[in-house]
Amino acid sequence: MQPITIDYKGYTITTDKSLMKVHDVHKWLSEESYWCKGVPFTTFKASFDNSFCIGALNGDKQIAFARLITDYATFGYLADVYVEGTHRGKGISKKMMETLFGLDWVKGLKSIKLATKDAHGLYKQFGFTECKYPERIMEISRKP
Ligand SMILES: CC(C)(COP(=O)(O)OP(=O)(O)OC[C@H]1O[C@@H](n2cnc3c(N)ncnc32)[C@H](O)[C@@H]1OP(=O)(O)O)[C@@H](O)C(=O)NCCC(=O)NCCS
Repeated sequence: MQPITIDYKGYTITTDKSLMKVHDVHKWLSEESYWCKGVPFTTFKASFDNSFCIGALNGDKQIAFARLITDYATFGYLADVYVEGTHRGKGISKKMMETLFGLDWVKGLKSIKLATKDAHGLYKQFGFTECKYPERIMEISRKP
């Protein structure tokens, strides 16, 4: 699978992990996120290595990220979506979602799930709806 790299308003949006700055992403997730504050680098790195990732760079610095946990055939779970504060409101997350959900193999997945506290309006633009049968969804949720 060939990685995609595009220019968007001077930002580099890429699915090429070799261009990504894992320490920038880990710093944001471990210090700023509401869902995985304090995540150890080794845990983050394993999740990065085993997911399909997309990110945005401003020069040498990574300022946005998202990853799809997936079997590449039937199912995906979208996680760790963020854009750094000073770069928000410019359409970067939408461009990342458009790029990710425009990939043929992603279009072929039977189910893609995610959890969000307040960004439903972003994901609705890419076809996400509330779960049709939420009572059928279960989880194991452990403290980090
Ligand atoms: C959510 C987030 C990724 C949006 O990134 P962004 O690049 O600033 O967003 P964009 O400029 O691409 O626009 C986002 C669109 O979604 C909408 N939206 C809905 N809920 C939103 C939310 N909670 N935050 C930001 N935008 C939201 C915006 O109104 C905008 O729509 P519009 O262009 O039709 O007006 C960014 O605000 C962020 O990193 N927030 C903190 C981390 C987070 O909440 N991540 C999502 C976890 S599920």
